This record gives sequence, C-alpha cells and structure tokens, in this order.
Amino acid sequence: MNVYDSEQILQRLQTIGYRQCDSPDKADLIVLNTCAIREKAEQKVYSFLGRQAKRKQHRPELLVAVGGCVAQQEGGRLLERIPHLDLVFGTHAVGRLAGHVERIRKNGGRIVDVDMDGGRAIFDGLEPLEAPAGPSRFVTIMQGCDNFCTYCVVPYVRGREVSRPPSQILSEIRVLVGSGVREVTLLGQNVNSYGAKEGYGSFADLLKKVSGIDGLARIRFTTSHPKDLSDELIDCFAALDRLCRHIHLPVQSGSDRVLKRMNRRYRRADYLDKVGRLRSVCPDIGITSDFIVGFPGESDEDFADTIDLMRSVQFDGVFAFQYSDRPSAPASGFAGKIDETVKKRRLAELLDLQETITLCKNRALVGSVQQVMAEGPSKKNYFQETNRTALWTGRTPQNRIVHFALDTPTPGEGMMAPGTILNVRIEEAFSHSLRGIPELERPNQHGRKGVDSHAA
Ligand code: 5AD
Ligand code: SF4
Repeated sequence: MNVYDSEQILQRLQTIGYRQCDSPDKADLIVLNTCAIREKAEQKVYSFLGRQAKRKQHRPELLVAVGGCVAQQEGGRLLERIPHLDLVFGTHAVGRLAGHVERIRKNGGRIVDVDMDGGRAIFDGLEPLEAPAGPSRFVTIMQGCDNFCTYCVVPYVRGREVSRPPSQILSEIRVLVGSGVREVTLLGQNVNSYGAKEGYGSFADLLKKVSGIDGLARIRFTTSHPKDLSDELIDCFAALDRLCRHIHLPVQSGSDRVLKRMNRRYRRADYLDKVGRLRSVCPDIGITSDFIVGFPGESDEDFADTIDLMRSVQFDGVFAFQYSDRPSAPASGFAGKIDETVKKRRLAELLDLQETITLCKNRALVGSVQQVMAEGPSKKNYFQETNRTALWTGRTPQNRIVHFALDTPTPGEGMMAPGTILNVRIEEAFSHSLRGIPELERPNQHGRKGVDSHAA
C-alpha cells in the first residue's frame, strides 16, 4: 500500500517539476511516507526526521515533508516536535500535495493538512506512473478499513472503507499493461469487502473483469479478512487462470479467547474451515498469514493454541509481530499487558516453527517444475557468478521466490525481459527461497525457445 502511495506522491510532484534523485544530499525536497502500524515503524520516522536537521542547516532552501499514517495521526504535533519540518500531509491529502509544496516555495511558512474530506476525493486524479519500474505493480482498489480490530491503528489513520470504481481500476491496469506491466496486485486492507458499500458488485466480480484484460499474465491481491472470504472468491482460484494460486489470510491468533478480544469476528474453527475449502478448490494454493504474539491477556494456553493452529494449517510463510500498543487503538487500554521478554520468546518460537514448516514444504518441491515470472537480476548470489551466467530472481504463482541461473551467449547479452514466464526445475530448497534451472533450449540471438512470455 505504501509503495503505491509513494508512487502517487512522486507522480504528483512530477507535475510541478520535481524528479526522483538517487541521494537525499542532492534533493531539493525530501518526502517521507510513513507507517504507523507498530511503534517501531513510528520511531524510525522520528530518527529519520532528526537526521534531516543537519542537511537543512547546510542548505536552508531544502524542503522536508512527511506524509502517510504517522502524519495523519500526529498532524501539527509533528511541526512542534520537529522545527525543521515544512509540511505534514495526511493519508487523504496526497491530491493536494503539489499545491502545498508550491505555496511553501512561493510564500514560505509551514503547512499541516490532515483533512479526511469524507473519503471520496482520495481517488481523484490517480494515475499510474508512465515508466513502470518492473513487470509487477500494485494497484489500490480501496482505502481505509471499517473492521476496527482492537489492536489496529488503520481505521483511525486511513479512515472509513472507500472503494474505487471498477472502471477507474480497469483503465489504470490497461494503461499499466500498455507500458509493459505483466502482473498486478490489487490492494486494500480488506479486499473481500470491495464495493460492498458502493454497490460495485463483489470483489470476485472485479477479479473476473481484471482477468479479461489482454496482455495481463498474473493477478494477485492482498489483504483478505477471513470473516469476509466468500465461497464465490474461493471458487475464483479454480475458475480464473490468471489468478495466482496464493492467498494472504491473516489469522493473528489461534485462540478463540484472543480472537474475540481482538474483535476479529471469526473463530479458529471458521478459519480452519476456510483453509480447508481453499485447499479443496485449489490443492496447490499457497497460504500465508500474519500473527500477533503477546496481545494483552494472551496466556500460555492461548499461545499454545496459536502454535497448534500453525502446525495444523502448515502455512507457506508468515509474518509475525510482537503486539505493540497503538495509542488510538482500544487494546492500548486493555489489562494484562505481556512482558517484552515473553513476547520475544513467543515470537522466536513461532518463527522457528514456521521456518521448519517452510523448509519442509520447499524441500518437497525439489525436482518439480515451477512457473516463474522473472522479475530481474538476483541480488542473492547463490551461484558463483561467471561471465556466462546471469542470475535472476522471480516468483511462482504461490509467491515463492526462485533464484535461477541463465546462461547467456556472451556476458551481458541476451538478457531476458523482466516479466517473462518460464519453467524452472527446482534443484535446491532454502527456508525463504528456492533455486533452480530454467527448462529451456539454449538461448540464441533470435530469441529463446521454451520461454513463454505470454502465458500465466
Ligand atoms: N501490534 C503488532 N502487530 C500489529 N499489526 C497490526 N497492528 C499491530 C499492532 N498494534 C500486524 C497485524 C496485521 C499486520 C499488517 O500488522 O498482524 O495483519
Ligand atoms: Fe487493521 Fe483489522 Fe482493518 Fe486489518 S482488518 S486494517 S488489522 S482494523
């Protein structure tokens, strides 16, 4: 979500003559897009902003701006706390950003804009960037959240749920595909409730429309709230070829008592039931999740239930976090706060177990052939790089990362286009990635047989 928002921020600033540069030392304007989901993310904002004081001393004409959720949450307090800050713009003020920057440049002064303007205007004038950074892009389909999980700041800093009209989403994706994008990830805090308020039809309807866009190879979406995961959406995994067989389905806890206090509005049995249905419709679906450990009042038994759920689901990957108090969220006032050392220990236990599960699942893939969309040259050098070997990285439909070596005719030549989908035979498994060899005839100067750049 923040990647998409940052792209929008850049887009707006380009309209008034700014360009992205490669170092903050060269910048005339530094914009920090922020996240308030956990305390740690918020602390990073203050330390980054603190470091800009020196820069501004050397170059007083430099402008410093803060956007996103911390800006929305803190508003004018940020200007009080950080004397060298020029602009604070909230989650609904991106459309007004360029005007604010121009005003400050012209007249000086400092601006705070955290108006939430009823929500709708948030999607006005959104446009994709002309030059996509790679074959895969995020597309926001809705903003805000109405779920009010008791630990979560999102409903307070992003506001109520608002969906974008399907026509706007479809035309944005068509433009992206026209400029080379092959995969889109549809984004929302809870995509399963897309369009419910506005009467746009269901999220499954939207998926069907998106999968009709010519030239688009892969569709992903995130995030799904388990309580709203419908059979209609589950069936899409079987019906829509281009829909990647992966779902991120945050469970947060395996204890009914904790789920209730979190206001998640499903029980452990409901979650397990949905996982069962997903796997019966699509046996090789990748299922990932989010967990919070150390929620106020979480007992050893509650945590044991979480571990037990993790064992029985056998997730393909998880993100797990220690509970962090968010002042505007109700759980910050709950009794039974858990000691930091206990949270740490529970987190380590959870992650250890998942690492074993992921490694075991990844090992089971050794020898299989996976469809991988090449994203770009690999950062990880699992192979000894030789003059004739290019290292690439990509993802399977289940969202597993695959590194693969590709022989090139001569160094640097015959580079494959990012977005190419190819069959990779898996040779080695790690806990966070796979390594393999593409199944293709030797590349030649006229193209590469065996690489299908148009199929999902
Ligand atoms: N403390 C810890 N983790 C949190 N998350 C959201 N709020 C908190 C919090 N206060 C986690 C949830 C969510 C993910 C995006 O962040 O697991 O799914
Ligand atoms: Fe936060 Fe819950 Fe909404 Fe997710 S569904 S954004 S955890 S309030």
